[in-house]
Amino acid sequence: MALKRVLSGMQPSGKLHLGNVVGAVNNWLKLQEEYDSFFFIADWHALTTHYEHTENLVQNKREMMIDWLTVGLDPEKATLFVQSDRKEHAELHPILSMITPLSWLERVPTYKEKMAQIQGRDLSTYGFLGYPVLQTADILLYKSDIVPVGIDQLPHLELAREIVRTFHHVYKKEIFTEPQSKMTEIPKLTGNDGRKMSKSYGNALFISDPEEEVRKKIMSYVTDTARIKKTDPGSPENCNLFPLHKIFTNQEKNNEIVESCKNASIGCVDCKKIAVDSVNKYLEPIKEKRREVEALKDDIVDMYKQGTDKARTIAQGTMELVNKTIRI
Ligand code: TRP
Ligand code: SF4
Repeated sequence: MALKRVLSGMQPSGKLHLGNVVGAVNNWLKLQEEYDSFFFIADWHALTTHYEHTENLVQNKREMMIDWLTVGLDPEKATLFVQSDRKEHAELHPILSMITPLSWLERVPTYKEKMAQIQGRDLSTYGFLGYPVLQTADILLYKSDIVPVGIDQLPHLELAREIVRTFHHVYKKEIFTEPQSKMTEIPKLTGNDGRKMSKSYGNALFISDPEEEVRKKIMSYVTDTARIKKTDPGSPENCNLFPLHKIFTNQEKNNEIVESCKNASIGCVDCKKIAVDSVNKYLEPIKEKRREVEALKDDIVDMYKQGTDKARTIAQGTMELVNKTIRI
């Protein structure tokens, strides 16, 4: 039996940070070993919220291409490409748009939330409303069986399945696979300010940050605010730094830290220093790999072009079938 196909995309926000890595990409590393995997940089999706800010898009895509390779995504194992290099995504999108009721899109939670939360950007566009339809096109184009996503994206997958059913109903032919979501375990990484680690909050630890930068960023973490003096007992659950320990410090030391924090036998400064070491140690092989990857120069783009070529047969095959089915 053929391997099941996995597909996921990521918007080109630029350099990867630790949150991206432990949240999504590390998961993809496992998947590329077991499935026929497709991972792509979703640059058209980036336009839905940033159409007036394209000045950094080329650089952001390049940074993401490099970072994906440095953490271990492997073009020999997975098909890596850039969304806008495969025009079939844009061919399938309007076709799916025709059969998608407006009301379905208006009730998607990410749509309502972003409209309410994001200030200073124009989100009252047709493109932004249609974000999940474009995402559905990405998924259906490759007949993806499994789509690994974070919890916020589950409604998009539900919508994708509804669009599949509608298509099959309208055109009386079952040509698509109903994609299943695969929820990614996302350990919550917080930034120094206690908010979710995110490039847009300016609190991210990038995987390419030099050791000194990592040190500075970690030393600036606001820890348990109830712990005013070193002699006050602390609680790791109320500490923004502790998630870093949970992920990057070994179990034994971790237990020690929890104990010593609670009985005030360790100070936050010393505790942070341990986190600096843990994170820098984790990043060491990734930076080693970066040197190899950066030496490839123009070949980096070529690797993604090869992915685009590998994706072609399937994407074109799907579009032929779609166009025949709807008599276009
Ligand atoms: N919407 C996804 C996100 O913000 C990115 C994405 C675009 C995607 N197309 C996709 C994810 C297709 C999975 C499948 O994370
Ligand atoms: Fe956080 Fe460590 Fe300070 Fe405890 S000792 S509050 S875990 S930084």
